[in-house]
Amino acid sequence: MKNQSEINIGLVGHVDHGKTTLTKALSGVWTDTHSEETKRGISIRLGYADITFRKCPQCEAPMCYTTAEICERCGTETELLRKVSFVDAPGHETLMATMLSGAALMDGAILVIAANEPCPQPQTKEHLMALDVIGVKDVIVVQNKIDIVSRERALESYREIKEFVKGTCAEDAPIIPVSAQQGANIDILIETIEEKIKTPERDVDKPARMCVARSFDINKPGVDPEHLAGGVIGGSLVQGKFRVGDEIEIKPGIQVKKDGKQSWMSLHSTITGLVAGGEEMDEVGPGGLVGVGTLLDPSLTKADSLSGSVAGEPGTLPPVRHSFTMETHLLERVVGTKEETKVEPIKTGEPLMINVGTTTTVGVVKSARADDADVVLKLPACAEEGQRIALSRRVGARWRLIGYGIIK
Ligand code: GTP
Repeated sequence: MKNQSEINIGLVGHVDHGKTTLTKALSGVWTDTHSEETKRGISIRLGYADITFRKCPQCEAPMCYTTAEICERCGTETELLRKVSFVDAPGHETLMATMLSGAALMDGAILVIAANEPCPQPQTKEHLMALDVIGVKDVIVVQNKIDIVSRERALESYREIKEFVKGTCAEDAPIIPVSAQQGANIDILIETIEEKIKTPERDVDKPARMCVARSFDINKPGVDPEHLAGGVIGGSLVQGKFRVGDEIEIKPGIQVKKDGKQSWMSLHSTITGLVAGGEEMDEVGPGGLVGVGTLLDPSLTKADSLSGSVAGEPGTLPPVRHSFTMETHLLERVVGTKEETKVEPIKTGEPLMINVGTTTTVGVVKSARADDADVVLKLPACAEEGQRIALSRRVGARWRLIGYGIIK
């Protein structure tokens, strides 16, 4: 499976601090591909880029670290180290749900902090808190835009970052000064990623299970029916393998009306094609992002309609839950706003935004107690007992992260 990335690394941080530019500096791929995004100039959906890290056998560290096949310094052919998928999460504050659903796929993360602004900015804080809540442990801080600050400001920014990460999952994270725009220190960043964010052990013998992050209709308008391609889902396998020809089940699936009542029906299909790292594969495993072609009607997969679902070997997926009881763990303060307020206890009757894996849903609290609560979900989620979920509350006009829950 050498074409598939081994690992997903998230790029998170405040809006305009340079996540998209850093992805481009690392890969040459521009992740902002939606025209709407280009218009608004912000990353709306999670962008993906598959990047191959390489090492020149002749040059010394850190200069030997590159993504080029031929060393730009000495002309020697470079050796493959590892393929990595980057998930470029949006920094805009209204898009926290997308950031949280992306965080579920991250094996590690890079927190991008621009040196030319005081640290922390609201979403710098909110994203770091989200990594903490979801349990992403391997974090690297990139101090970006060092080309436009003085040496004094760069040092001051470094001290601000050090102070800010105290007591969080990034407390001991390396801080790498970078100019994404000028491509400065990208070699040191690759070296640090190779050392700090190792590929986790995966269970390939268990039944296949994939968290669906995106879904598409890949047909061009006007294509004739015999050339119509089936629906495509994209995401990461957390365990097991998918092979072309395998049967798959997708849950919760679609909403149907049965005997006058709304209910959910899981989808069953056959895998017709697999793509990883831009290449067609016969088999894919856990790790980097993959695209899965199916025989589903593409109207079922268009415009991310299946994002948040779970796909895998039929009959092995977790149950579809319309409600659950959760153990609750709240943060002390609401972050992400200029004025931070205390997190009040969860109240009976309030709606909470709930992120379970790549699913985003709203749960209405039916009964709140000191350390746990019962919630009824607006959209069901396919989730296991013991799974960790992110909890956000409406504060003003926005959802703000307030803590996490464990499904009982
Ligand atoms: P969102 O995805 O919308 O959250 O933004 P982002 O974090 O991806 O920021 P983006 O990469 O779009 O960069 C924002 C602006 O900063 C752009 O105008 C970039 O050209 C600029 N920029 C990014 N990195 C650097 C850098 O290292 N130096 C300088 N001078 N400008 C940079």
